[in-house]
Amino acid sequence: MKLEQVLVLGGSGFVGTSLANRLAERGLRVRIPTRRRARAGHLLPLPTVDVIEADVHDDAALERLLEGVDAVVNLVAVLHSPSGKPYGPEFAKAHVALPRRLVAACARQGVRRLVHVSALGAAEDGPSEYLRSKAAGEAAIRAAGRGLEWTIVRPSVIFGPGDRFLNLFAGLLRFIPLLPIGGAGSRLQPVYVEDVAELLAASLSMPEAVGQTWDAAGPRVYTLEQLVEYVGEVSGHRGLVIPLPGPLAMIQAAVMERLPNSPLSRDNLRSLQKDSVVQGDPLPFGAAPTPLEAIAPLYLSPQRRRASFFGAAQQGREF
Ligand SMILES: NC(=O)c1ccc[n+]([C@@H]2O[C@H](COP(=O)([O-])OP(=O)(O)OC[C@H]3O[C@@H](n4cnc5c(N)ncnc54)[C@H](OP(=O)(O)O)[C@@H]3O)[C@@H](O)[C@H]2O)c1
Repeated sequence: MKLEQVLVLGGSGFVGTSLANRLAERGLRVRIPTRRRARAGHLLPLPTVDVIEADVHDDAALERLLEGVDAVVNLVAVLHSPSGKPYGPEFAKAHVALPRRLVAACARQGVRRLVHVSALGAAEDGPSEYLRSKAAGEAAIRAAGRGLEWTIVRPSVIFGPGDRFLNLFAGLLRFIPLLPIGGAGSRLQPVYVEDVAELLAASLSMPEAVGQTWDAAGPRVYTLEQLVEYVGEVSGHRGLVIPLPGPLAMIQAAVMERLPNSPLSRDNLRSLQKDSVVQGDPLPFGAAPTPLEAIAPLYLSPQRRRASFFGAAQQGREF
């Protein structure tokens, strides 16, 4: 299959940034739509990447983005939505309607290759609106006709510089030495962002990826409590993790979801009721996943956090 130009929806985000770098390294042209160009400023130095301000929820805009493209990767997702049944409107728009419209737009534009990123644990009867809507998005991709060569990738929680997971706990532990957390016993198998990006980039040109649903996880399973304790150790802000029982954790999440840029919602907590771990190999083809312990100290240790603060200050950037 010809692979020269790739459209990456959600390409300005955490995974998208690593993926854009990998695709650019392979000499591919990459088109990345964003709702606000300023959010994708970090991608502008990449020579083969075009950042385009566009609304991917508009059919005409989506079709224009797909013009002349050989393959598309969909990374658009949201963590929060007003509640609804079986899932709220923002989950419905980003996780279900967009994949459906994308499949239809690919058919109209003759784009035959689609890699869609979902989440480990996505299930029609999942405990959270997030997981149920992610499952409906997967179903929309699988329902595409024979004309579309699709692959679905389902990562566990993803870590790496710029993640919103380990960095969140590192930030909290700096100021709150006694940290009450819900879902402390939930089991997670964190996967390195570069391993996910490599899997997505490689799968675009792999015939054996077509029609596959692949889980993506790291080499080890941890409870959330173990991960938070590890973050405390590495970041030099060891705290005492206080596991909250279910009802108290729900009250905490209900309060937090009212904060601007809420780090946690009740729906996020419900997602944690389902372990985010894989049954078999953590990555397809027996690829060796990168250990968390090899990477997390590189961005969480106090020396690294100080260095990135002074680096940012010297360049006049926001930290
Ligand atoms: N990060 C994880 O731990 C994790 C774990 C499992 C699965 N995943 C999945 O991996 C994929 C990528 O995750 P990520 O962490 O890279 O996400 P991210 O950093 O939040 O990036 C998502 C991108 O999607 C765009 N976007 C967000 N909401 C949108 C909306 N309502 N309409 C249109 N565009 C929107 C944003 O682009 P603009 O702001 O530039 O428009 C954003 O850069 C997602 O499907 C996610 O569910 C992530």
